[in-house]
Parts: sequence; C-alpha cells; structure tokens
Amino acid sequence: MSSEIHPKLNVTQPNSGEHTVEPVSDPFVLVIYGASGDLAARKVLPSIYKLYRRDLLPEKFAVMGVARTGFSDDSFRAAMLDAVKRYVPETFDADSWNDFAGRLYYQPIQYDSDESGKLLGKRLDEIDKAFGIRGNRVFYIALPPMLYETVIDNIGGAGLARKEHGWTRIIIEKPFGNSLKTSRSLTNTLHKYFEENQIFRIDHYLGKETVQNILMFRFANAIYEPIWNRRYIDHVQITAAESLGIEHRAGYYESAGVIRDMFQNHILQLLALVAMEPPARFEAEEVRNEKTKVFRSIRPFDTKKLDESWAVGQYVVGIVDGKPVPDYRSEKDVPPNSNTPTFAAGVFHVDNWRWQGVPFFLRSGKRLARGITEIAIQFKAAPHLMFDRVLAGYAGPNVLVFRIKPDEGIMQSFFTKVPGSRLCLQQVRMEFSYESVSSGAVFDAYQKVLIDCMSGDHMLFVRQDGVELTWELLDPVLSALNGFGPPAPYASGSEGPANADRLISKTGRDWRRLAEL
Ligand code: BG6
Repeated sequence: MSSEIHPKLNVTQPNSGEHTVEPVSDPFVLVIYGASGDLAARKVLPSIYKLYRRDLLPEKFAVMGVARTGFSDDSFRAAMLDAVKRYVPETFDADSWNDFAGRLYYQPIQYDSDESGKLLGKRLDEIDKAFGIRGNRVFYIALPPMLYETVIDNIGGAGLARKEHGWTRIIIEKPFGNSLKTSRSLTNTLHKYFEENQIFRIDHYLGKETVQNILMFRFANAIYEPIWNRRYIDHVQITAAESLGIEHRAGYYESAGVIRDMFQNHILQLLALVAMEPPARFEAEEVRNEKTKVFRSIRPFDTKKLDESWAVGQYVVGIVDGKPVPDYRSEKDVPPNSNTPTFAAGVFHVDNWRWQGVPFFLRSGKRLARGITEIAIQFKAAPHLMFDRVLAGYAGPNVLVFRIKPDEGIMQSFFTKVPGSRLCLQQVRMEFSYESVSSGAVFDAYQKVLIDCMSGDHMLFVRQDGVELTWELLDPVLSALNGFGPPAPYASGSEGPANADRLISKTGRDWRRLAEL
C-alpha cells in the first residue's frame, strides 16, 4: 500500500530575512506616459513610492506624469496620493509625503503632436536643472499597446530619446505586438530612436522572486545539474492556472486569447529558465543568449496535426470559490459567438542533447479550479521497482516543484517507509517556503524591474530576438487554430477541457490535478 502525506520536514533555513539591494545611484527623472491611467495608479507610482520609502532611490529624482487628461501638477499629486493610500496603504507615511509629492509633476500631452512632445522636453529640461538630474531619463509607457508606436514616435520625434547628456531608457510592457509582423514593426519603431540596450521590455514574471530563483537553484546546487536531463527527467509540466475570469479586459483579451496573453511571454520564459544551459557568467547578455538558444531549439509545431500538440478551450458557467460565475461569452463586451480561447495546453519539445525525448507539457487558463502557477519536474521512475510485488499502488516517481504562486516555494517529493512493522510506502514532501525566510522585505515584480532599469541591468528584461523567436513559433499555431472551430467548452471551476487531458494521457502521463496541488 502507499499513501501520501505532507509533513513539513525540517528544512534548515540560514541567512533568514535580510534582503540586500543596492540603492539606485544615478539621479533620474521617470516619465510615465499614461500617468492618469489604471496601471500608473495601481502599479507604477506605488512601486516607485515603495522604493522611495525604502531609501532605494537617489536623493535627486523626480517623476513626470504625462497623459491626455488635463491634470495640473497639484491635481496629479492629489490623484497619486489617493492611489498610494488605496493601493499601498501599509507603506503610506504622512510625514514624508510632502517631500515625495514635491517631486511629482504633470504635463498634459497629445500623443501624436510634435509640439506637445517639445513642450514636454522643455519641462523635462527645467526639472533636470532644478533637481540636478544630469540628463538621465526613463520613459515608462503605461498605455494600451495600440498607442505604443505613436508614443515612441512622439518621444523620438521631439528629440527626447537622446543618447548624449546622461542616459535615456524606455520601458514597455507586454504585449510586444500580437504577431511576428506587428512585433517587428514595434521593434523597428523603437530602433528608429533607441538602441537595443536602451530598451527594457518587461515580462513581469521575470521580476518574481520565485522565477529568478529557478536559475539560482539550478546553478548553485551541484546535486541537481547532473540529473537535469533526459536520462533522469521524464517530463516537465508548467501550469499557470487562474481562478479569475477576464475581469474587465475583454477589449484586449478578445484579440489576444490565452496563447498570446500567457504562452508567448510568461510561460515560454519559464520554459527557457528550466531548459537553458548554464551561462558562462551570470550576466544579462549571457543569460539572455542561453534563453534565446532554447527558443531556437523548440521544435516547430506541425500545423496539419495541431490536435496532437495543442488543445484549446473556453470557459462556460460553473462554480468558482463556491460562487456561480458566468460563461466567457456573457462577460462584458465579449461577443456572444466569440471563439477566443481562455484555456490552452501545448506539448513542446526542445530539440537538443539535454532534452531530446522529454516533453514539456504547458497549460494555462482562466476560471480554473485553482489559481496556481508552478513548474513540476517529473523524474523517471526507479528503473527496477523491487517493492512492486509487495506493495500495491506505488504513487509515481519523484517530483520537484517550483511553486511560483501562491505560497512561493520549492517542494521535492520522495518515498519513505511508513514507521511500523508492515512494509508500507508513503510519499512525503520536503518543502521550502519563501515566506519563512523573508521578513516581508521581498520586492514585488514592479519594484524589481524599476530598480533594475534605473540601474541599467537587463537581466530580467526580454530581448528582441527572444520576442521574435517566440512569435515565430506561435504565429503558425495561432493561424491554424483560427480554422479549428470553436474551442472546447470547460466548466468554470474545473481542471480544464477534456481534450487537454487526452493530449497528455495518450503519452501515458497525467496532468497534476489543480484541485490537489
Ligand atoms: C498578465 C496577463 O500578463 O498576467 C493576465 O495579461 C494574467 O491575463 C496575468 O492574469 C497573470 O499574472 P500573475 O502575476 O497574476 O500570475
């Protein structure tokens, strides 16, 4: 007999707590395009404020909000005060607010007007002088993707992307186009004014502590590297499951769908970190080169037999967290005949020596049984199971899990004998939890990417070649899926559609059950 229990094994956790980060040393002005919008209020400004409160920003810095809304400096400051109180109330400090607010400025702008751009340039020069910023500027584009190219032309056209007098950097967030063609067009527009090393493309997954830890774990623990290959690993499962629906984002999601929204970026980044070769040095370009090699090694999909490697679905009504929820087609602004997939599962193969014959099963979806993101490395079974005869129900081989969220941590499962006179196996887990070693001092993804950008460190940002290779891989899939008919329905709150189960079960394996993770 076998059973599974989950005792917390005694894991020694030295170096607990202290999170050491170099403060940003260069003075700078952060120019937020789209400063009156939701992303600026929810994420960008609160993250800058948190860094300020943790003394990680230099003495000389300022923030310039830019958008179409007709704010003045004062009304922008009042709006940001509301945002900080609302989104990071635990960080808000009334005593130092005035100093922070005094660094906030606002310039209304028409995104397609050169004149507006030049006015902005003038104000930036004034702020530069007032604060002694020495010309360093970061442009953060917190706007809907359809405005990216207009705004980049606006910045470049007004001569604001200059390379002399300090440094100029630009931050943009995914999506980087919605196909290879549009992503190239975005890159071309960026490259009209900016060098690649001035561009910081955010994939917020790379800012997550647990995602960064994949590399540390792999390359700092010598015991895993020798078994990190096709001789010992049976397959890898990467799951990014959400219990939430599309919220109020139909406008974007309808034209994206889950493959563009989650696979082209976040999930393929996770795959690259698991599959990459050790870089010669832990430096941004070396790491990004190795990731690019992985993208190049992924086997292109045979679009004539797409159902052998992909399964897609769309959520219908169901129960999530005990409450009934509507189907995707009834969400606000979704057309009633929409065929946009909200779930996808794909079987990926990395054609190189290390991974030949090791499938990577990737899945992601909205309105699933649980919100959980994890990478599970499933090792091969013991070559000879001498316990098989005496013990029924051996529950499968060892698994190493990187839990990205929630309950960030690492888990290794293995078998032990159940104490007692009977021969009995149990599966136990050795668990490491981030919470137990961080004293709440961990950066969220936005703080991390902001601080890295100000410090000029590209390690956690996506490079142009990686973006294009992932689009090259997925573009044919997306086109072929168009002719595929409606995605398979799956009940909200379920494990996903049955076609995804078939995709993996025909290889003799099973998905890890979300409800049990
Ligand atoms: C975003 C997607 O990039 O990532 C969303 O657009 C998704 O649809 C989100 O919900 C998931 O991020 P996280 O950090 O909550 O796993």
